[in-house]
Amino acid sequence: MSMNGQAPADGVSYRLLRPLSRPLTGSFSVPGDKSLSHRALMLAAMGRGVSKVRGLLDSWDVRSTYSVLRELGAGFSGSWNELQIQGWGENRHVGPLVLDCGNSGTTMRLLAGVLAAGQGEYELVGDASLSRRPMQRIVQPLRHMGAVISCSANGTAPLSIESQPRLCPINWAMPIASAQVKSCILLAGAQSAGETTVSGDAGSRDHTERLLEALGVHAQRCGGKAVSLCGPAQWDGFSMSIPGDLSSAAYLATLALLVPDSDITINGVGLNPTRLGFFRLIKRMGADVTWQERGLELGEPFGDMRVRFSALRGIDVVPEEVPGCIDELIVLAVLAASADGETSVSGAGELRRKESNRITATVGELRRLGVDICEREDGWTVKGPTAWKSGRVDTHGDHRLEMSLAVAALACSSPRETVIENAVWSGVSWPGFWECLSSWCDTGTVWAHNDCLNL
Ligand code: S3P
Repeated sequence: MSMNGQAPADGVSYRLLRPLSRPLTGSFSVPGDKSLSHRALMLAAMGRGVSKVRGLLDSWDVRSTYSVLRELGAGFSGSWNELQIQGWGENRHVGPLVLDCGNSGTTMRLLAGVLAAGQGEYELVGDASLSRRPMQRIVQPLRHMGAVISCSANGTAPLSIESQPRLCPINWAMPIASAQVKSCILLAGAQSAGETTVSGDAGSRDHTERLLEALGVHAQRCGGKAVSLCGPAQWDGFSMSIPGDLSSAAYLATLALLVPDSDITINGVGLNPTRLGFFRLIKRMGADVTWQERGLELGEPFGDMRVRFSALRGIDVVPEEVPGCIDELIVLAVLAASADGETSVSGAGELRRKESNRITATVGELRRLGVDICEREDGWTVKGPTAWKSGRVDTHGDHRLEMSLAVAALACSSPRETVIENAVWSGVSWPGFWECLSSWCDTGTVWAHNDCLNL
């Protein structure tokens, strides 16, 4: 992987998978949490002095954050596994700079909040997928704060920012619950004088406010629906170990739930309640899943999770539950396809604005594997259990669809192989995903192909 976090060109690369022939058992771990890795790097760069962060996720997205912070003047030393970060203090580079955020929405949206204040001239750019994603949702509140920021005529990147020495605090009601929008506003608010409030949250991940609180910034929360903080805020360097990523754990858990006799423990995984939505939903489906907290890292709980093969039944996922499981909905559809009865998801229109149009892409690809799934504007309905077919599926350049399809292919009840085309994206959030998968499976279960297959 390149240091600047660029995903590979969209080339031909296939993975061929046969269903797992034995249960998944034993202890596993997953790489560091992506959301926390981005935030730890940004808060360290903005902080006074030196921070030490262990166990950062080494993925393309996090490398994008790392590279832009380095260009902005943050100092880095040590190894990726134990990185020391010298905050830029008064010496943030003023540019003009073009900062490449790669495929990463979190990098672009949070960074816009960081750079709105201070001094400098910046252009934030991204790859083709990121350049299609909506940016008005951060441009509007930042403008209300007095930021000088613009995006393209259709509301997308590139973003041009002329940092302002003084921003005004705001009281912003988000029309759509989004942790990225909330974090962007809070990071700008932390640099303006007075109280900034973000409401309309509906339970999206609360990492930014937790970390800021742990760093001594005075923040107030109103029942998971709104958060306020008082600026201007400053914090010192800190030390943190990043817990494992619950979103990655969801793939492993799904595999264990679907392959008979599986019984696994995932150690050292983040247990932030705003990220446990998927695991609460699968419990409702009948999954044998338990977790136990072992400690806190800068306000973030972590611990161990046990998952055992279980008979599952369909459920309804209602709009209020969506923000808590937004990244896990694709793999939930795979699970629902093997469950008994109907599972519906509604209020998830945001999925159309992720790395791919995740509603259309998921429905189309799961149908190719024999799943009875029906598309709606804001979600889908899956009727299980599925008589899985093997087939050829495509990732649509989306890491979460790629990993979900891999789980479906391994857990699939058809004995034949499934081919996943364009399977080069998992490194966005789980570097080494395919190597991990191969190591858990029998030899010959997971094959890589770089040439066209004629199956
Ligand atoms: C993220 C927030 C979510 C999520 C994304 C990571 C974050 O996006 O889908 O993968 O780290 O804040 P939204 O805030 O757009 O829902």
